[in-house]
Amino acid sequence: MSGQATPSRAGAEGAPILSTRSLTWGVGGFTILEDIDLDVGRGEFLSIIGPNGAGKSSLLNVVSGTNVPRSGSVELDGHDITSLRPAHRVRRGLGRTFQTSSLFPGLSLVENARLAAQASRGGSLSLIARPRWEDGATQAGLAALAEVDLADRAADPVADLSHGDKRKLEIALLLCSEPEVLLLDEPTAGVSVEEVAPLVEVIRRVHERGRTVVMVEHRMDLVVDVSDRIAVLHNGRLLTVGAPDEVMADPVVQSAYLGEAA
Ligand SMILES: Nc1ncnc2c1ncn2[C@@H]1O[C@H](COP(=O)(O)OP(=O)(O)O)[C@@H](O)[C@H]1O
Ligand SMILES: [Mg+2]
Repeated sequence: MSGQATPSRAGAEGAPILSTRSLTWGVGGFTILEDIDLDVGRGEFLSIIGPNGAGKSSLLNVVSGTNVPRSGSVELDGHDITSLRPAHRVRRGLGRTFQTSSLFPGLSLVENARLAAQASRGGSLSLIARPRWEDGATQAGLAALAEVDLADRAADPVADLSHGDKRKLEIALLLCSEPEVLLLDEPTAGVSVEEVAPLVEVIRRVHERGRTVVMVEHRMDLVVDVSDRIAVLHNGRLLTVGAPDEVMADPVVQSAYLGEAA
């Protein structure tokens, strides 16, 4: 829906759904993220780009709660969530893609999705109970699979999926927790060239259904099309945040990237 993109292009119109304030994180004597102030608008598609080692994954880890910041804060929907554990952030609607290793390769797609739906509803994981097509968690799982175009693969084992379809499945598992904000860390990594476009289409659709997406990606070409705004991270600092055409034309960004390539 093109009309929806207009208000969010401004970025922070209305109260932001997600904010970081003076966020700093490091390991030992090293500072890896320094003084990050970032606002994500409700319903926005914000991409975070930057060279390898810039701190993109570290930033998502601090936002999702895996990394504890040295200083600064993270706010979700106006609430300070800095001290919340990752699982509590998920329950508040902040979801992060499962890593490939968290898929059960011997189980079918729908069984994986059912387990994700059960877990997000606070139920115990049950591998023993046979999935019944009418049970609520299975229904939620099937709906999530349909949303990422994997409904016809529901009964297949995960091990049979291509990399692109595994990435779609990870997004489906994330959808089972009914997130308002999705944090995606390089969803196209390891995906073959011909599978990138359908995967990006799935992500675009997930966003168009009203969710906020924060996507880390190191390829600028990929994010220009789908993003309302792009944030550029370099050496642990936020270089700039703006509309794709502004960011592309920014000489500071260009020199950061050309410097990287040289
Ligand atoms: N847990 C950690 N321990 C030590 N160094 C880390 C850790 N996590 C990240 N780093 C370092 O922080 C820098 C940024 O890493 P990362 O956030 O993964 O970058 P990006 O995702 O942008 O490629 C890198 O130099 C990386 O080696
Ligand atoms: Mg990374």
